[in-house]
Amino acid sequence: MPAYPRLAARLDEMRSSAIRDLLTVTARPEIVSLAGGLPDPELVPRDRITEAAQRALQNLDSIQYTETPGWAGLREVVAARESALLDRTVDSNEVLITHGSQQALSLLAQVLLDPGDTVVVEDPGYTGALQVFRSAQARLVGIPVTAEGMDIDALESELVAGARPALVHTVSNFHNPASATLSMLRRARLAELAQRYGFWVIEDDPYGEIWFDNPPPKPVASLSDRVIRLSSASKILAPALRTGWLVAPEHVCKAIELVKQGTDLCGSALNHRMAAELLTDEDWLAAHLDTVRSSYGRRATTLRAALLDRFGDVLAMHPVDGGMFCWASFTDGTDTESLLRAALDIGVAFVPGSAFAVDVNGYGDSLRMCFTTASDEVLMEAVDRLGRAHDSLRD
Ligand SMILES: Cc1ncc(COP(=O)(O)O)c(C=O)c1O
Repeated sequence: MPAYPRLAARLDEMRSSAIRDLLTVTARPEIVSLAGGLPDPELVPRDRITEAAQRALQNLDSIQYTETPGWAGLREVVAARESALLDRTVDSNEVLITHGSQQALSLLAQVLLDPGDTVVVEDPGYTGALQVFRSAQARLVGIPVTAEGMDIDALESELVAGARPALVHTVSNFHNPASATLSMLRRARLAELAQRYGFWVIEDDPYGEIWFDNPPPKPVASLSDRVIRLSSASKILAPALRTGWLVAPEHVCKAIELVKQGTDLCGSALNHRMAAELLTDEDWLAAHLDTVRSSYGRRATTLRAALLDRFGDVLAMHPVDGGMFCWASFTDGTDTESLLRAALDIGVAFVPGSAFAVDVNGYGDSLRMCFTTASDEVLMEAVDRLGRAHDSLRD
């Protein structure tokens, strides 16, 4: 049989997302899964979304193509929200609406990177970003994430040693997977380094509004115009809206618009109108976010308390002040890929740290647990099963 024509070279650098692969196993009903990374569907405001859809559909423009950078009404809404956050007036020409913030990452890679460019990523890193930068044929340099976010001393050492990244990617708030938040001091240093060494920062922030007790510090984007900020309606409203946004200097937005024309022509006018209505219904949104924050906050507390109770100092945890994940590392040499095999037999799943490592074999002692979709009882059962799996490795 003749061989098929070749596939593109950029695929050589890409790995399938271990999490997406794992999700097929964890869909089995007997498995309690802490492996996903999904918002709780019970907390997705379906009735309010239905109302917004019905109202949007009254307008024939909702079912048409819309402008490539996004429906102007939504860009204005986002510009107003971002102005409040960034303490400056953000013009709607600095805002571009994307198909979730994942598309923003992909479009940014196309306009900011050439093959072979260096990209600094966090290690462990958000797998969706690692995939995008690998497919852009970038050279990835991983910087460890500590309890206070990206280790800026380590970044500075790389720069002093001669690394010249085109961009630095950071999930500044309630990190996926490492659950840490970049401290104010580190934000200021990152902004200063971007200015000094002339690189872009992508501040990827889908979780910033899901804080539990206190909002996170000001965005890095409020400290430097080298920072492109991404956020999304996925975690606060619904992933299915596929509505994310970026705030960038106007010339960058223009460049993205060009690339986006060839990618999808435009986003969904219907979804953009729905998102605009939901994001401007301030009293409703505040009450909705309060419910999400308190539910996730309670579950995070339950999970951490159960882990501490079961494992004590055998498990070192990063703080969880918001978001959807708890990141923990075994101090007794447990290999979490082996632990996962034992855990699946007992009926609990998580994502092993190696899935987020920039280099093969990193974070073999760590794991990510998502607490958003399980009740307190289920979380406690999950930790009990995890404990039994851990014991079974020692038998
Ligand atoms: C850090 C981070 N960035 C971006 C995304 C993409 O989200 P979406 O495309 O749904 O906005 C996610 C999703 O989990 C994420 O964790």
